Amino acid sequence: MVKTFLPKDQIHNMKTKQVNKVEELSTIFDSFNTYAQKLEGSYKLLQERVKEIDREMAYTNECLSKKVQELNNLTRFLNSILGSMHSGVVAVDTKGDVVTFNKVAERILNVNAKDVLGKDIRNAFCHIGGFADLLVESMSGRKNVDNIERVIEIKNGNIKHIESSISVLKDENEMISGVVEIFHDLSEICELRGRLNSANDLISVGTMAASIAHEIRNPLNGIEGFACLLERELEGDSLRLTKNIIKGTKNINKIVTDLLFLARPINLNLRRYKISKIIDKSLIFAYQELGKCDQSIQVKKDYACQDDFVLCDPDRLQQAFLNIMLNAIQSMSKGGQIRIFTRKSTNSDMQRIHIGFTDTGKGISEGTIEKVFEPFFTTKDEGTGLGLAIVRKIIELHEGRINIISEHERGTTILVNLPASQYTTLKASKETNLLSHVMA
Ligand SMILES: Nc1ncnc2c1ncn2[C@@H]1O[C@H](COP(=O)(O)OP(=O)(O)OP(=O)(O)O)[C@@H](O)[C@H]1O
Ligand SMILES: [Mg+2]
Repeated sequence: MVKTFLPKDQIHNMKTKQVNKVEELSTIFDSFNTYAQKLEGSYKLLQERVKEIDREMAYTNECLSKKVQELNNLTRFLNSILGSMHSGVVAVDTKGDVVTFNKVAERILNVNAKDVLGKDIRNAFCHIGGFADLLVESMSGRKNVDNIERVIEIKNGNIKHIESSISVLKDENEMISGVVEIFHDLSEICELRGRLNSANDLISVGTMAASIAHEIRNPLNGIEGFACLLERELEGDSLRLTKNIIKGTKNINKIVTDLLFLARPINLNLRRYKISKIIDKSLIFAYQELGKCDQSIQVKKDYACQDDFVLCDPDRLQQAFLNIMLNAIQSMSKGGQIRIFTRKSTNSDMQRIHIGFTDTGKGISEGTIEKVFEPFFTTKDEGTGLGLAIVRKIIELHEGRINIISEHERGTTILVNLPASQYTTLKASKETNLLSHVMA
């Protein structure tokens, strides 16, 4: 075996190189350790920061759920206010979509909130005649409306009196955000108001008329008789004056007859009769009156109860409808339109026929409307003011109701409703004594 020996200086060099390498490695390990420590420090900082962010997030979440809770409470509170209000509330946004519709609104209009919420107001209420008009008008004109009385026609043909107020809603920047209507059902109030007036007026007129009518009639007939005799013998101015006397006595006679009609017990000659037929008969007389007018007045018929019957005295009802139409004609000195409509309404134990007469005449001012059924209240030079008092008596004798709605300078609607023939408690040939009826 041959051993080779390296020279000494070469061995020395090799040792030196090894020492250097070890030193280099140790330096690398040192710096690695330093970086590892730094990394560990940064990781800890990062963990701290993550914890801090977690805490911040938890706090923000807590605030947010508190706010949501508050908002829910507020919404519940507002909904309970809306729910406990005695008025109907409907709110519409700027697009015209229904955004609020409370329980009372559901009840008055006979509509479910889910069927109208989110829908355009014109479509949502298209089956309720006249309801959406005011909201649409107020939205386009951007104007508030205060306590206006109006009639609407709801789902099953029922007619309702409501009183509406509308406010335009504005946000904090005064930008319009919608409109809200608050409305009440006035149907019962109107009915009670009508009955109370009716009872009071008729008792006083009845008592007065009964005592004076006969006292007037006897001498009046005498005057008329003598005037007729004189008429045959006189000429010229004297004849003209005598004719005036005869005309005057005829007028007084008419007033006395009307008064006695109001005061006396009336025998109704009751029969089952189609309501549309009675209206048409009164129209024949109304057309005669229209023939005497210079102005153009159109009559529009809208009968939904063409074949419905009422138990009635057709002559008396015809007289009542004619009086109403004459008033309508007289209110339209510049021409216009009379719309006559019939509708039917049914509730649990009753079916009623509604008859409406709407004119586009001069209307009745606010302070006057309560008086129109009072005997002798007239605004006409040649009126006696007994027309509507007689109408009301006739309608009430038929277990009906009458109401009037009018807007000054825009027109008037007279609404009559009668029980359908199978629901009346009237008996054919019933003798109806007005005064005992009123006082009972
Ligand atoms: N459709 C109507 N439009 C406007 N005003 C009306 C209408 N109907 C009634 N009125 C008012 O009511 C008042 C009373 O009416 P009513 O029929 O009782 O008496 P009149 O018409 O004045 O006299 P007449 O005894 O000749 O009928 C009228 O004078 C009028 O002011
Ligand atoms: Mg009249």
